[in-house]
Amino acid sequence: MNRRNRILRQSPAIRAMMQETNILPDDLMALLFINEGRDYKEEIPSMPGYYRLSLDYTLKEVKSLWSMGIKSVLLFVKIREELKDKEGKEALNPDGLMQQSIRAIKDACPGMVVMTDVALDPFSSDGHDGIVINGEIVNDPSVEVLAKMSLSHTQAGADFVAPSDMMDGRIAAIRNILESNGFTKTGILSYSAKYASCFYGPFRDALDSAPGFGDKKTYQMNPANRIEAIKETLMDVEEGADIVMVKPAMAYLDVIREVKNAVHVPVSAYHVSGEYSMIKAAAQRGWLNEDEAIMESTLAIKRAGTDLIATYFAKDIVRILS
Ligand code: PBG
Repeated sequence: MNRRNRILRQSPAIRAMMQETNILPDDLMALLFINEGRDYKEEIPSMPGYYRLSLDYTLKEVKSLWSMGIKSVLLFVKIREELKDKEGKEALNPDGLMQQSIRAIKDACPGMVVMTDVALDPFSSDGHDGIVINGEIVNDPSVEVLAKMSLSHTQAGADFVAPSDMMDGRIAAIRNILESNGFTKTGILSYSAKYASCFYGPFRDALDSAPGFGDKKTYQMNPANRIEAIKETLMDVEEGADIVMVKPAMAYLDVIREVKNAVHVPVSAYHVSGEYSMIKAAAQRGWLNEDEAIMESTLAIKRAGTDLIATYFAKDIVRILS
């Protein structure tokens, strides 16, 4: 033998030196579910160890994330049933829960990069990401509302808006409304290749945002498709996306790699709720070592080609790293 590969694996020091991929706290986006009220903290039944928090608790959480070295949060809100309607009007309320939360977080922790989910599902009585007319999720009227929603989040102080709706043309519309209102420093993180996935189930429990009828297959992508992910992503970059995203993450590592090779903007991936819950459930039964499963999964997502990872394990990862 003139080549023995085990030479480079023989000790912890050599393995560390040869390690190709590393995770840093800077790579992580933490996810927050914000609930109305005060002094409220409720565990999400299908996401053990993850909570919906009122804004006062959220602010404490944001400070704690910042002190751990995590530099961005992606925000989601859960609103009361009475505030939901067909047009998702509450999404545009300048004093709505999202807008209040953005202001309060930027006030409490100005350095934290605040990103916001842009989609109508938590605000829509139909539980869809866009406007529903006669049982159809209509594209262009939805884009109009999503652009206004993005402007509203930006006016409240968001650093990035993160449209997760998968309507056609929304990135161009959002960029346009931001430009024409003088917001030249707001970023767009586009959920570019977002699949119609069963792994969003626990998230929909968390926000009570499951579709009221049907599914999301006319706007989210078919899990069988790869080339379509490249098309979607290239179009988003052309329309003005600063960062693109593949979602879910673990089941779509091939797509992450192809997107990474196809674009010259940062690529993110969302390790989604169902992927979190699978690890938690197996760990609770003693079937997997939780910390090892978290690190191996996150490393795989990074290795596939991500620059940023949205993950419910952000705090665990930083704890394990240190
Ligand atoms: C809203 C949205 C969803 C997720 C992020 N933004 C749910 C959906 O599209 O139904 C899923 C995140 C997760 O499962 O962790 N459009």
